[in-house]
Amino acid sequence: MTDRKPLIAGNWKLHNTVAESQALAGAIAAHVGDGSACEVVLGPVATSLAAVKEALGGSAVGLAAQNTHWEDSGAWTGELSPALLLDVGCGYCIIGHSERRQFFGETDAGVRKKLAALLVHKIVPILCVGESLEQREAGKTLEVVLGQVEAATEGLDAVALAPLVVAYEPIWAIGTGRTAKAEDAQEVHRAIREHLAELKGKSWADSVRVLYGGSVKPNNAEELLSQPDVDGALVGGASLTADNFIPIIDAGIGRAES
Ligand code: 13P
Repeated sequence: MTDRKPLIAGNWKLHNTVAESQALAGAIAAHVGDGSACEVVLGPVATSLAAVKEALGGSAVGLAAQNTHWEDSGAWTGELSPALLLDVGCGYCIIGHSERRQFFGETDAGVRKKLAALLVHKIVPILCVGESLEQREAGKTLEVVLGQVEAATEGLDAVALAPLVVAYEPIWAIGTGRTAKAEDAQEVHRAIREHLAELKGKSWADSVRVLYGGSVKPNNAEELLSQPDVDGALVGGASLTADNFIPIIDAGIGRAES
């Protein structure tokens, strides 16, 4: 269907102790082994990053942080930096999650700085974008989502942005059990890709993975992942147990093989 390797990422948010994180990571690593047609990434809380890295051992499962600062070091109490994430073995970092935008005052300008800093360190940024219910009902979905993508990538060209992953997460679908219809997700994903093509060039835009997030579950993953521009999933609640997450990984493998 496409050359883009599907990517299934688990965002554990503020869940799991070190021991729980290790056990879950071990179960996922055992399923994925040392290679898979689908890229799999786990995003534990920061205090579990090192332990999860160890639990993943030689498996192909990648490690993601849930946030970063843009500076490498300095007087930034409470922050983590791309340099430190790299030090602990992170190959990916989620940025601009709606929970950070909503509850921690994260702005488009801050997200752009984080994106640029991650690229310098060759950490794959997973850039989250998405509209609220109010914005969707006002017909502003594409304006909001494309605006967020544009602001985060401003001043960066396709070469610098090469590894970028975008996650479209409609806010009204996060943790609510309300998923976007597969065709509605596809429409936004296609619009994101077309906008990236206009801004930065088509050949790069065609290589960018655009994930869907928002109440992805074992029973809807396959349908979402059957859409041409839905290259994977960013999974919250259903990534917290191996029983739920493994079928979603398998849906990603199914997409790769279709
Ligand atoms: P849920 O899968 O729990 O809706 O969360 C989605 C999400 O926010 C992933 O980043």
